[in-house]
Amino acid sequence: MGISRTTTEKVKERADIEEVVNDYVPLKKKGQNLWACCPFHNEKSPSFSVSPAKQIYKCFGCGKAGDPIQFVMDIEGVGFNEAIRHLAKKYAIEIEEDKEQTPEAIQAYNERESLYIVLNYAKDFFAKNLQKEEGKAIGLSYFKERGFNQDVIEKFDLGYALDGWNHFYDAAKGDGHTDEILLKAGLILQKEGDVQRLYDRFRGRVIFTIHNLGGKPIGFGARILTQDKKQPKYINSPETEVYHKSDVLYGIFQAKKSIREKDNCYLVEGYTDVISMHLAGIENVVASSGTSLTESQIKLVKRFSDNITVLYDGDAAGIKASLRGIDMILEGGLNVKAVVFPNGEDPDSYARKVGAQEFQDYLENNSQDFISFKIGLHEEEAANDPIKQAALIKEVVQSLSKIPDPIIRTVYIKKSSSLLGLDEEIIQTELNKIYLKGRKDDFFKEKREIQETPFEELLPVKEESSIVDILQLQEREMLRLLVNYGFELVSDDLHVCHYLLQETDELEFETPVYQKILEIYKEALANNHLPQPEYFLKHDDSEVKKEVINLITRKYELSTLWESRFQIFTHNEADDLAKTVYDSILHLKKKVIKKMMEEAKVKIKEAEQEKMDENIMNERISIYMELKQYQVEIDKQLGIVISF
Ligand code: UTP
Ligand code: MN
Repeated sequence: MGISRTTTEKVKERADIEEVVNDYVPLKKKGQNLWACCPFHNEKSPSFSVSPAKQIYKCFGCGKAGDPIQFVMDIEGVGFNEAIRHLAKKYAIEIEEDKEQTPEAIQAYNERESLYIVLNYAKDFFAKNLQKEEGKAIGLSYFKERGFNQDVIEKFDLGYALDGWNHFYDAAKGDGHTDEILLKAGLILQKEGDVQRLYDRFRGRVIFTIHNLGGKPIGFGARILTQDKKQPKYINSPETEVYHKSDVLYGIFQAKKSIREKDNCYLVEGYTDVISMHLAGIENVVASSGTSLTESQIKLVKRFSDNITVLYDGDAAGIKASLRGIDMILEGGLNVKAVVFPNGEDPDSYARKVGAQEFQDYLENNSQDFISFKIGLHEEEAANDPIKQAALIKEVVQSLSKIPDPIIRTVYIKKSSSLLGLDEEIIQTELNKIYLKGRKDDFFKEKREIQETPFEELLPVKEESSIVDILQLQEREMLRLLVNYGFELVSDDLHVCHYLLQETDELEFETPVYQKILEIYKEALANNHLPQPEYFLKHDDSEVKKEVINLITRKYELSTLWESRFQIFTHNEADDLAKTVYDSILHLKKKVIKKMMEEAKVKIKEAEQEKMDENIMNERISIYMELKQYQVEIDKQLGIVISF
């Protein structure tokens, strides 16, 4: 349920960045700021800074930045509401729930709370069973046989469900839990044909508790102990109000801290793999629990690291069936590696077989990037078979096309090119085919104009990244001036902001968050407010806040770059704001025009290739020439002499 606005405000007012951060990392004072080794990435010397004056933190190494609430969200991997609850607890602020909620929302909230309570009760019940005679003899001895010690039994809330129809049901009922909630939690079942008869779902099995990110039990996996072929090996909790299988990763609660520290997440198949790896000293591991990976599971990992290493059993059929997972991870913008175990081994069996040290070494020495992994899988069969070889190339290019970041994509294109012994250009051509096809499919599906989709993907990768990146840099520079100096005067009666905004009136920013900041700025002006940099730090949107912190703390970065690279600014920017701002606008316009020229060039090529009507061709060429003219004009004003 939502938290009231007043509580949120109280927390915001009370939470102190220094106190909040100090709970996690010790801060040292140096100058005006406090410093520490960044808790979000691995480093030896401190680049994580806290400004008590501005009430923000910022890491110059990994770029993480924000206010106290954002810090809790980042470090605990929780959402806004959870972070507020966390801070309210720290400062003993009473939480007032949002009264604006509909009765339905309140009921749903209460129901979820009851589910958590009964699931927690069940977890305790199953755990205690391990101490009873039957539990000790069957459950506990099974765990011991697998090499599980008391530590992991407690860490993972392992347990045992007694053999019998209603041990759990009777106990839960006796302790006041209702049939309705027990059914909704998936802990009991109704007899077919006699719905009044209720009985335990989990019977005579060892129990693996499934936790959510915050550590609350939300479901169970129950493993059979006999060789009974008629019964399924595992019985799992059904989907419930609090257990959405596709959003959950087994072990994420126990792994999250280590995933962040190691900046990598191992992905395995099942419960026992996760636990055996913990026993082998590897804690950054989660399981998708028998189902194929989903988008929201990938997003869950991404909250802690951009790197996933998929661990595969050494059985080729199984690997090929699960390759889709790799493309999905790539699509999510993460980097993927893979480790294949020797034939017949899975992480669980292999860890037990070779022991902790050798297992860790194996992971180190056998992790491959996804390109080498994919090529290795098909290499043998493709060696003497041109058709299979072509299929392999397609397979690799398919994966490449999923990588959203153009720079990373370029790296992998190079790598594939050398591994496959193919020209980069050929791979690029194949990639363009995929992009074009995707676009045509979109076109027919949604009847959208083809031209509306971004053109960048059509260009060779190198060019694409440089133009768009430089444009982005330029947009940032213009915003940097706006946020830092907007309230200052360029001349007697003209503020920097009015000048900047007037000059960029017709420009749409390419980067959504920059556009957002621009709009917030304009809105403030419309309300007769001339915002200082701090104005944006109060904003609720964490993306905006983070970006503004970047803009404020990197005051001189770009101009220094210019000075050294292009010898443009030879003065202190703040001394001559008028010139700084004027140049910045020209630079921005220059980049926009450059981009438009590239677009125009593509259109000309297209007209040429498709042998379009001469009039169309001429028109496109004249657009290009006009842009060129404009470019020359700007260069002149900037004092850049270019040769044709
Ligand atoms: P495994 O068959 O490897 O389970 O399934 P295990 O307990 O590790 O078995 P052994 O001891 O090695 O033979 C891997 C994962 O697949 C899911 C579970 O998440 C399990 O951890 N699974 C498997 C099910 O959900 N249901 C099943 O019937 C089987
Ligand atoms: Mn197994």
